[in-house]
Amino acid sequence: MKAVILTAGQGTRLRPVTLTMPKSLVPVANRWLIAYAIDVLKLAGLNDIGIVVNSLNSPIVSLLRNGKSLGVNIEYIVQENQKGLAHAIGLCKSFVGDEPFTVFLGDNIFQDRMTELLTSFADSGAEAKIVLGEVLDPTRFGIAEIEQGRIVRVVEKPQDPPSNLAITGVYLFRKSVFDAISRIKPSGRNELEITDAIQVLIGDGHPVASYELDGWWIDAGKPDAIIMANQLVLEELPYTPAPENGGQVEGNSEVSHRVLIGKNSRVIDSVIRGPVIIGEDTVICNSYVGPYTALGDNVVVEGSEIEASIVMKNCEIRNIQGRIDRSLLADNARVTSAPHMPVAHRFVLAENSYVQF
Ligand code: DAU
Repeated sequence: MKAVILTAGQGTRLRPVTLTMPKSLVPVANRWLIAYAIDVLKLAGLNDIGIVVNSLNSPIVSLLRNGKSLGVNIEYIVQENQKGLAHAIGLCKSFVGDEPFTVFLGDNIFQDRMTELLTSFADSGAEAKIVLGEVLDPTRFGIAEIEQGRIVRVVEKPQDPPSNLAITGVYLFRKSVFDAISRIKPSGRNELEITDAIQVLIGDGHPVASYELDGWWIDAGKPDAIIMANQLVLEELPYTPAPENGGQVEGNSEVSHRVLIGKNSRVIDSVIRGPVIIGEDTVICNSYVGPYTALGDNVVVEGSEIEASIVMKNCEIRNIQGRIDRSLLADNARVTSAPHMPVAHRFVLAENSYVQF
């Protein structure tokens, strides 16, 4: 069975971060978001993966290449215009051939490994299987209605939701889905919705089964959701003992257990309370780094406090009064206090930036 991951969206809800990187490359606990989907596929023995990108110039292609470094085989399928999930899946027809296949949305992250689901689908009697999860806000998702274990209706972002069971972004299909896709029309938001193609399968009398997720699931489309995903993944860091002073931990420092410190990084006169992950060549000096923080490579944190945040590579945080909390800093961002008079606030912010004092 082959697998397809869709990453060709515009990521508008995560701007400005996604102005320079696709959503699937945003780091969660210092790994690309898409790496977590690849982990799940690999674990189920699905090593042949097609990734739908919006261009072969996408950084996804230059970073993941043929997948060898991740232990999988990757091919790329280009979707130049984002005409919807069903359109993206339709483009994968020759990649998947006649085999059953799974589709993962590249911006979702799951605690559930779904191994049994992925390995048993091919021999199951279901024409399609849709992974569902309970949500509090069903108007934001594709929603399924279930009767006697079978999905009887699916509807995309309904005003009046028939249930709180959301389509989570993992689908299992057979080749019949391509015929269903060819029979749907663009939706109100002018996209070919995979939800509508699933409704066609149901209308044709095909058995469409559901699988309910175990554990947490995050649709990491917005900054708060990415920060929450980072927290949930760091929460699962296994126990590692507190590093001794000396080596990478210097001066009057206190570093707790569950703190991973990358190569050439240094902690000087600072307190770090895990779970925390620190990349390579990063320096933390006279600072406090609190739980659920991920600092990328080549970051400087000096004279500051930070907690439950994601700081990507090459960022600088210096002499900030008050604690930085639940924040997302993309590559090369700098947050510093004024080095000279007037001690004023200065901002260079991109579209959708957010500052709170
Ligand atoms: O997150 C779960 C939800 O994902 C489901 O409940 C909905 O039924 C499903 O339609 C989808 O809704 P979203 O509005 O959240 O989808 P989004 O536009 O964010 O796209 C999801 C992923 O698919 C994202 O990684 C980008 C990729 N994509 C999206 C479009 C529209 C493509 O590759 N091509 C596309 O044309």
